[in-house]
Amino acid sequence: MESKAYDCIRREDRGGGVSILWVARAKALNALNLATLREMERALLALSADPEVRAVILTGEGEKAFIAGADIVEMKEMSRGEAVDFSKTGQAVTRLLQLMPKPTLAAVNGFALGGGTEMAISCDFIFASESARFGLPEVTLGVIPGFGGTARLAHFVGMPMAKELIFSGRQVRADEALRVGLVNRVMPAAELLAATVEFAQEVVSNSMPAVRSAKKLLNEFSESNGLHYKLDSEAQEFGNLFGWHDQREGMAAFSEKRKPAFEGVRT
Ligand code: CAA
Repeated sequence: MESKAYDCIRREDRGGGVSILWVARAKALNALNLATLREMERALLALSADPEVRAVILTGEGEKAFIAGADIVEMKEMSRGEAVDFSKTGQAVTRLLQLMPKPTLAAVNGFALGGGTEMAISCDFIFASESARFGLPEVTLGVIPGFGGTARLAHFVGMPMAKELIFSGRQVRADEALRVGLVNRVMPAAELLAATVEFAQEVVSNSMPAVRSAKKLLNEFSESNGLHYKLDSEAQEFGNLFGWHDQREGMAAFSEKRKPAFEGVRT
């Protein structure tokens, strides 16, 4: 097992080859800053390479949030170039969740907004608590999803619903998420982690070479639809929005707990 401890995440190994990756910034509702993304990338590479690990569950610490998105406080002063790099770092994490040759599961225990929904939809399965809330609120902050949401969401919910969610930024409750095909299962919060672990153990008790082959082939669908190209375009567009007044205003308004006044002009 990897020896190095982390500051923003935590790894827990359960029985039967199932490991849990906890995002551990509960005070900021597990918002993803650059340090957390880098640790997640490092941990996922280690989990992917570890022969003892057969499945990985991603979840968030605390009662309230899975991941409340990218860290707005850190993002608000980013330059265009820094924003492109930030987007690419988040995308690297989502690509690892999607492409690692073992099953990945999101146990969504509360708010999964922006980057939180994007992390969840990169996993092979999403189990959600009844209190889970999904959504892509980036346009309310003057930006767009930057961790693969524009490339992946339509595969789950179809293009009309993907546009509705991304253009409106509205939150979706767990029951609606189940109805539109965003999640696999919804259950009481108290049962979520145990049920996710149990399902992961059931999957990895099957033939792992067969599960790996199935995952590879199912993923080829998104690769053949130009995922890599779309992610690059997303990072560039995400960065470009950091040259507009609305990104500064939207993120300042979040910190100041007020409504933004968008102007739609360049800075
Ligand atoms: N970034 C930084 N800090 C965050 C955060 C985020 N995404 N989400 C919550 N926090 C912080 C809050 O600032 C607050 O900190 P303080 O106690 O220091 O004030 C703390 O977490 C608790 O949050 P709230 O007081 O806001 O809790 P609430 O219950 O009133 O609301 C919430 C919960 C609806 C999730 C609200 O926090 C919220 O809207 N958060 C932001 C969600 C969001 O817009 N996410 C998208 C980010 S952009 C993105 O993800 C881009 C991308 O794709 C790369």
